[in-house]
Amino acid sequence: MRGGLGLLSTVSPPPAPAPPPLLCFSRLRLRLHSLFYSDILKVKSRKSVWTVRTRAVTTMASDQENVGHVKQQLAKLFETSLRATVPEELDVEPLVAACTAKFGDYQCNNAMSLWPRIKGKKTEFRGPPAVGQALMKNLPSSEMVEACSVAGPGFVNVTLSKNWIAKIIQKMLIDGIETWAPRLSIQRVVVDFSSPNIAKEMHVGHLRSTIIGDTLARMLEFSNVEVLRRNHVGDWGTQFGMLIEFLFEKFPDWESASGTAIGDLQAFYKASKQKFDEDPVFKERAQKAVVRLQGGEPRYRSAWAQICDISRREFDGVYQRLEVSLEEKGESFYNPYIPGVLEKLSNLGLVEESEGARVIFVEGYERPVIVVKKDGGYNYASTDLAALWYRLNIEKAEWIIYVTDVGQSEHFQMFFKAAKRAGWLPDDDKAYPRASHVGFGLVLGEDGKRFRTRSTEVVRLADLLDEAKARSKAALVERGKDKEWSEEELDKIAKAVGYGAVKYADLKNNRTTNYTFNFDQMLNDKGNTAVYLLYAHARICSIIRKSGKDIEELKKTGSIALNHPDERALGLHLLQFAETVEEACTNLLPNVLCEYLYNLSENFTKFYSNCQVVGSAEETSRLLLCEATAIVMRKCFHLLGIVPVHKL
Ligand code: ARG
Repeated sequence: MRGGLGLLSTVSPPPAPAPPPLLCFSRLRLRLHSLFYSDILKVKSRKSVWTVRTRAVTTMASDQENVGHVKQQLAKLFETSLRATVPEELDVEPLVAACTAKFGDYQCNNAMSLWPRIKGKKTEFRGPPAVGQALMKNLPSSEMVEACSVAGPGFVNVTLSKNWIAKIIQKMLIDGIETWAPRLSIQRVVVDFSSPNIAKEMHVGHLRSTIIGDTLARMLEFSNVEVLRRNHVGDWGTQFGMLIEFLFEKFPDWESASGTAIGDLQAFYKASKQKFDEDPVFKERAQKAVVRLQGGEPRYRSAWAQICDISRREFDGVYQRLEVSLEEKGESFYNPYIPGVLEKLSNLGLVEESEGARVIFVEGYERPVIVVKKDGGYNYASTDLAALWYRLNIEKAEWIIYVTDVGQSEHFQMFFKAAKRAGWLPDDDKAYPRASHVGFGLVLGEDGKRFRTRSTEVVRLADLLDEAKARSKAALVERGKDKEWSEEELDKIAKAVGYGAVKYADLKNNRTTNYTFNFDQMLNDKGNTAVYLLYAHARICSIIRKSGKDIEELKKTGSIALNHPDERALGLHLLQFAETVEEACTNLLPNVLCEYLYNLSENFTKFYSNCQVVGSAEETSRLLLCEATAIVMRKCFHLLGIVPVHKL
């Protein structure tokens, strides 16, 4: 079940040090695996950008081609034209892009880059404009194209037929928005996101990771890719020796108190750290405790499990509020795999001795990736290498996406390079299997510094979300909605608006920039905010409601005509949904979808102010256009993790 209320942390602690598993990583398996991928790649390059994936689990949508994907449909036409125009240049792929209204709706940009390749060879062409002319002449006739022209150095401009646009929208109204889902050429992806650390604070950085990662997962899921949503929690490491010893000392009856003894885990962490730093006897005991924990001693294991559970409850509070589902496979899960994976890397000759540690050198960095520390322990990088190996070979993921702050970029770039040296990943960053780091900037307070509350204490995420909800509820009450709606409705809508505002404020920015957290701004009902967009959607719903027409009936009997320029502009924008989602998820940029949604609502406003809907001669067509807009808006909200409301 996707997108539903949290499938929360469900993985129980790993068994006591498991016998090193997976030593079945045979050369044969590696070969089979890479064969599998090279097949995918071949298919990809042969069929180029509009590859329709073949996969065992198909939905109805993925069996058919997506006629609503304008760019792909046009690329197909231009591919035919390219083959006819330059039959020798088989590897040239059509370059099609949306363009400004002045020249047309789309443009094919192949002529310029083709020219140097064919110059002198094909004497019938005198220059790029002539290539453009030929591309236009050889374009197969299609109902989707109304007019074509060649401009400048051979750009072929295409104006789409408004009847075709109308027809495709009408078809979507009947077959469902799922038929507009992008088709990607991969089947399974890991999105590693949220990933807070046990016993430490889950901070706004983790909130960003949760929001961005969930959106990426939703977009990929919508594109019919299987997504393994992984919470790579920091639940392993030397700090646990200290925490466990402190637990034994402070709460001798911890076992019977089943987690209630500790109370505030962060305060507990601070106190135990202080003791660790000040008391050498305690420190020694803590260090021994790590060894006993890692050796699997039951008492240490269950103390560890209890500490993890307390943190987990706090994390789950945030996931539940945000309706984000995640499956926890924390660092401890991969720990038993590390020795085997390091052995493979050693056998490949990649692991070297350096200053007492075991390391892997990678191109472009003077410092190596440390995989075994001086004291013989493993670290963040060793865990990540084991996790990557597991995801590629056991989970058979083709794309592994990591969502963390940009501060960790170097870590990811370095261990990706180590994986390339090992032959796990291809050298080409865009080829599959692929690993991508989705880095994001800091969350700032209004003072421009790292986001904190006035007391300089860290902000508790659950409190932050509660405040967003409380503020949106207060705004609704101010507008008298408490008199109109039931308490339950008021609460539901306040929650949708409040949490939606926090998510949208984060997602609308290019993720690599820092963003300033400001309740007043994000809850403003004007400007590019979730509140404004949710209002726009609710208004469309109310137009349809107030028309008194049965919209389901109209879908079957009515038809759309796009005669007014604002109707046509709205229709065209609706049709650009598929290519936008594809761009947002393949480039890992949720802000692209936010921008699309905002422009959709602007296009709608323009249409609505210039075209009378209810009571006009075009009422049926225009109501259907309203309905299509509402459907696309709702899908955008869904992909952004925002719950749409039908009245506001
Ligand atoms: N626990 C880490 C942190 O809080 C994030 C983990 C990200 N995932 C990974 N595979 N390294 O910074």
